[in-house]
Amino acid sequence: MLTEQRLRQPSLFEKIVSAEQAAELITDGMSVGVSGFTPSGYPKKVTQALAKAVRDGKQCRIALWSGASVGPEIEEELAAANAVSRRAPYYAASNKSMRTAINAGEIRYTDMHLSHMAQQIDYGFLGPVDTVIVEAVAITENGELVLGPGVGNTPMLVRHAKNVIVEVNTCQPLELEGMHDIFIPAKPPFRREIPIFNVGDRIGGPYVECGLERITCIVESDVVDHVRNLVPPDEKSEQIAGNLIDFLKNEQKHYRIPQQMLPIQSGVGSIANAVLAGLLNSDFENLQMYSEILQDAVFDLILSGKVKRASGCAFTPSPSVLKKFSANRELFHESIILRPLDISNHPEVIRRLGIIALNTPLEFDIYGNANSTHVVGTHMMNGIGGSGDYMRNGYLSIFTTESTAKGGAISRIVPMVSHVDHTEHDTMVFITEWGVADVRGLSPRERAKTIIDKCAHPDYRPLLWDYYKAAEKSRGGHTPHDFGFSLSMYQKYLYTGSMK
Ligand code: COA
Repeated sequence: MLTEQRLRQPSLFEKIVSAEQAAELITDGMSVGVSGFTPSGYPKKVTQALAKAVRDGKQCRIALWSGASVGPEIEEELAAANAVSRRAPYYAASNKSMRTAINAGEIRYTDMHLSHMAQQIDYGFLGPVDTVIVEAVAITENGELVLGPGVGNTPMLVRHAKNVIVEVNTCQPLELEGMHDIFIPAKPPFRREIPIFNVGDRIGGPYVECGLERITCIVESDVVDHVRNLVPPDEKSEQIAGNLIDFLKNEQKHYRIPQQMLPIQSGVGSIANAVLAGLLNSDFENLQMYSEILQDAVFDLILSGKVKRASGCAFTPSPSVLKKFSANRELFHESIILRPLDISNHPEVIRRLGIIALNTPLEFDIYGNANSTHVVGTHMMNGIGGSGDYMRNGYLSIFTTESTAKGGAISRIVPMVSHVDHTEHDTMVFITEWGVADVRGLSPRERAKTIIDKCAHPDYRPLLWDYYKAAEKSRGGHTPHDFGFSLSMYQKYLYTGSMK
């Protein structure tokens, strides 16, 4: 039940409508933005009502914009109802209907660096925002929106939207108020520096500015975020974490990283979470995170006192970690700052703070190019997300991954990646369960030797060496390649189910 704690201006009660009534405002061809980031802080009821209306015969396909992938009430339901024509800037493979439609070319998907989306909306590159649906914790007496745990691109979407539909979710704790730091940079030529000099600096306000008159309608919601539990760390991910920690310590020993560890960014997925969890058992202290997403491991790091400050554009506690959040709200309120996505991922801030960037690719090649998105070059897994923002601009860019996938049938270290998201110019260090390939300052031929010997699975090292030697002998060059050989590894996998 919505009370004055959630709607702090009496006139707002007159704007309450049903989810079905709100969904009627969304019509065919509209560009619709949604709040949230990953399954965190996204609206649920209006999109579900829209999906139902489309299933019942309403003709409506929309361009769907967000911060990143959101929950199944949006991704799954709308895609399954064939109600999405375009999608940007990210989606996640766990949403199967969306994945199928994108890979069939039925949904036109634009995979973007996440730091680019808000500014491209602001510059008008993507066209108008017809409607935004925001999940809020509360609305202030002046019509400002108190967001939930996922900020994403909400501030910019709200600024540009013609209609603002607000789902006020009574399940989101009111204690989230005050954790946000909302700042929208001016457009060039008036843009100034983003004055974040420390992870904990606050440069904006706690609310998204909207205004009472711009709120078209309000829908009450009590649907909880649909966050899944992550796969717990296993032996391989613990080895990767161990290799990472040894590497970072060695960097400190040689004064390439200051004794006070620089802020850490950690990507998405189980390996990323496991690697971060490995920091729990390390002797690093007073750690800080300046990241896009704050996954489960960050909560344990804060509880243990290892991490003092964490800045992100969203936090996604899985059901088990949500209990820890609820029991320690004050501590998390003090330790976590939630920022818009274009600020959490901004190249200027990433460079200034000297972020240690940790991300996971699908595969990387012997010369240091990495593929984060396309399975065997053609089919989207997840989007590039913020990995490019951080890997290009990090003080240190570190890719961590297992050396193989699909039970060993695929080597994640290949002669030439089947799709390039991160070029050799943006990558510095690769870590697998077998070791660390530090390719800073190395030529392509040196990189190849280091990557094969340090990172590839022993089962695949002979094959990769054969490739390198054949390429060196046949065409040679600055970056030796034998294109037929490289393709034959993928073809072998596609025809026989194994690269071996
Ligand atoms: N070829 C084919 N399939 C591969 C593969 C490869 N080289 N490497 C992994 N896969 C498959 C796995 O088998 C698994 O498939 P399944 O779900 O059918 O079992 C799936 O890809 C995920 O792989 P997994 O090893 O479980 O990965 P993860 O949970 O650690 O996530 C990424 C890895 C690459 C998918 C994830 O890190 C990602 O989305 N990265 C891009 C975005 C990003 O970096 N965001 C961070 C920005 S802040």
